[in-house]
Amino acid sequence: MVALPERFETQTVHLKGSHEIKDVSKTTPIYQTSVFSFPGLEEVEQYYRGERGYLYTRNGNPNQAQLADAVARLEQAEKGVSAASGMGAIMAGLLAVLSPGDHLLVSHEIYGGTYALLQKELSRLQIPFDVIDLNRAESLAPYVKENTKMLYFETITNPLLTVVDMPFWLKQAGQHGLITMVDNTFATPYLVQPIRYGADLVVHSATKYIGGHSDVTAGVLVGRADLIGRAQEIVVNYGASLSPFEAWLAARGLKTLAVRMERQCDNAAQVAAFLARHPAVEAVYYPTEASTAFFHRNHQGAMISFRLADESKIYPFYRSLRWIEFAPSLAGVETTVSHPVTTSHRAFTEEQRRATGITMGLVRLSVGIEALEDIIEDLEQALSC
Ligand SMILES: Cc1ncc(COP(=O)(O)O)c(C=O)c1O
Repeated sequence: MVALPERFETQTVHLKGSHEIKDVSKTTPIYQTSVFSFPGLEEVEQYYRGERGYLYTRNGNPNQAQLADAVARLEQAEKGVSAASGMGAIMAGLLAVLSPGDHLLVSHEIYGGTYALLQKELSRLQIPFDVIDLNRAESLAPYVKENTKMLYFETITNPLLTVVDMPFWLKQAGQHGLITMVDNTFATPYLVQPIRYGADLVVHSATKYIGGHSDVTAGVLVGRADLIGRAQEIVVNYGASLSPFEAWLAARGLKTLAVRMERQCDNAAQVAAFLARHPAVEAVYYPTEASTAFFHRNHQGAMISFRLADESKIYPFYRSLRWIEFAPSLAGVETTVSHPVTTSHRAFTEEQRRATGITMGLVRLSVGIEALEDIIEDLEQALSC
């Protein structure tokens, strides 16, 4: 034990004691510290020479690194960086590549928050973008300008769950010399690893399947080491670093990703088939086997959207669910429902709703790990309301 001065005031602050063990903890401790201490100035110099790991948690922390490294490994990426949220990771990825004057192409179906980032923040930095329907376009050629630098899309889109032909579009982007960034939040590396098809950067809202328990807000960006190095600087400079506890929670959740995904995808396939047969359901949006043929697993994901045949039943439907809760997020171990029109796509005009099919009667379902029969029973009784 360190010998401390004996005065009460000093001893209350310096809690040195027998808890300071050299034994190895089975789980990674939570490094809940804003800063790291150094025995002397030589060690500070070692940090700046890259010979010591950590200085200040905004610049780096073992829990942040554990999460980033784990996701990088699962995505087969060279390197990763964690961020305070999925949006923080997306921002870091975009700004690592784009400078004022550069142009960006994005898929027409992207998360509303990402669209807001492009429209409200990046355009202000003189980084314009164009939207491209990757399910209808035949090539990138008509959309690529002299200053186009990047292509951005989501593996499985929200809320209509269409699957972009990733191998084709990544190849096209390569032919035009574009840097590519894929939001793999809905698919996760369990289903597909975009880097194997040539993506330069892959981003996750770790708030979703990576964490898996709806108890953490976090983001991870992985990919080419040079781009991640720059993204890391952006995370530090913009103050978007992930807290150690959130990183620890996300890493703990990640350990069960494979078993959760397997169970959730199995349940979802059965629930999608049930919904497709139900007379109260007009349409089911769930990735087809053909569209996911390039996935590394024979699963179509665990998100389903469906449209009620009678739109006027939408309020009673949500009210009638007994234990499936309404929650405007996704990917937890519990089955939850959301409603795009009143949440994520609230800003859409009536015309946009009709054009995209994101109408009042559309329900988004995040399928959990419960007993399949229970999920179907609750949906069945709510659909019969
Ligand atoms: C596909 C997708 N990407 C990114 C985000 C943003 O993630 P976060 O809420 O962790 O910032 C979300 C959030 O819902 C999302 O669904």
